[in-house]
Amino acid sequence: MATLSPLARIVSIASGKGGTGKSVLSTNLACQLARAGQRVVLIDCDTGWANDHLLLGLQPSYDLGHVSSGEATVLQALVPGPEGLRLLSGGVGRARDADPTWRDLDRLFRSLAQLESSFDIVLIDHGAGLGLAAQALIAGGSALLIVTGTEVTALSDGYAAYKRAVGLAPGVRAGLVVNKAASIPAGREAWERFSFVSQRFLERKPDLLAIVPEDRAVVDSVERRVPVVLSAPTSAAARAIAEVAVWSAFHAPADGGGSRSIFEQARRALR
Ligand SMILES: Nc1ncnc2c1ncn2[C@@H]1O[C@H](COP(=O)(O)OP(=O)(O)O)[C@@H](O)[C@H]1O
Ligand SMILES: [Mg+2]
Repeated sequence: MATLSPLARIVSIASGKGGTGKSVLSTNLACQLARAGQRVVLIDCDTGWANDHLLLGLQPSYDLGHVSSGEATVLQALVPGPEGLRLLSGGVGRARDADPTWRDLDRLFRSLAQLESSFDIVLIDHGAGLGLAAQALIAGGSALLIVTGTEVTALSDGYAAYKRAVGLAPGVRAGLVVNKAASIPAGREAWERFSFVSQRFLERKPDLLAIVPEDRAVVDSVERRVPVVLSAPTSAAARAIAEVAVWSAFHAPADGGGSRSIFEQARRALR
């Protein structure tokens, strides 16, 4: 009997509010995991508003829009980035990409499924809120990394995203990153509020993956288009992001077997 190699681990990175740091975290995690020897593909699913290519200093010729329309294959659209990671960009400015229908996603997920057998990790950077793509992937078994700020609006929207994810997949493997914390105690307090409400109303809570401080090194790294884990690896933010990279969802198969295609499950969830 042929032994099937395990399929890639798939982690969706999402938030309630925009601007919490999903793209900064996604690009840095992709670098960090690739540097540790994993075969990583980062998919910028903030379609129509993509910016992972900017944060990585890359200029893709093709993006998800070209893959959806059949103008490019998935493999043609992958761009090599730092540490050997691959980026599949999301496209900027085309109205249709920003608002994909379930039919567009069905076609797209069918193409993306082929990445699962040639990578160890597929990271998916979503737009703010849980759009159709994020919902389908969570229902299909993707792990979920929620990024929140410490302010009450970010926490409230982050909790709403978590609640929705639990509604879609009660057993979802979820982790929380508290980003842009003014101090570690402020970050801790935000986590305590989030976990208290989650435990009380949902009888579960995500794993706390890290408190990432507000750090000038991140702002500089965005300006320079080099992820902070590479440009300033000893900065407080880079060290906290490195803690996120040890989360078990990046190192263990999603369902114990790692033999189910999550993109295929997500296609089923779209129906
Ligand atoms: N830990 C941090 N410290 C300082 N600034 C940060 C940090 N994380 C993110 N930022 C800033 O926030 C901006 C928005 O982050 P981004 O990742 O694009 O958010 P999102 O993808 O959630 O919309 C970045 O351009 C960066 O300047
Ligand atoms: Mg973003």
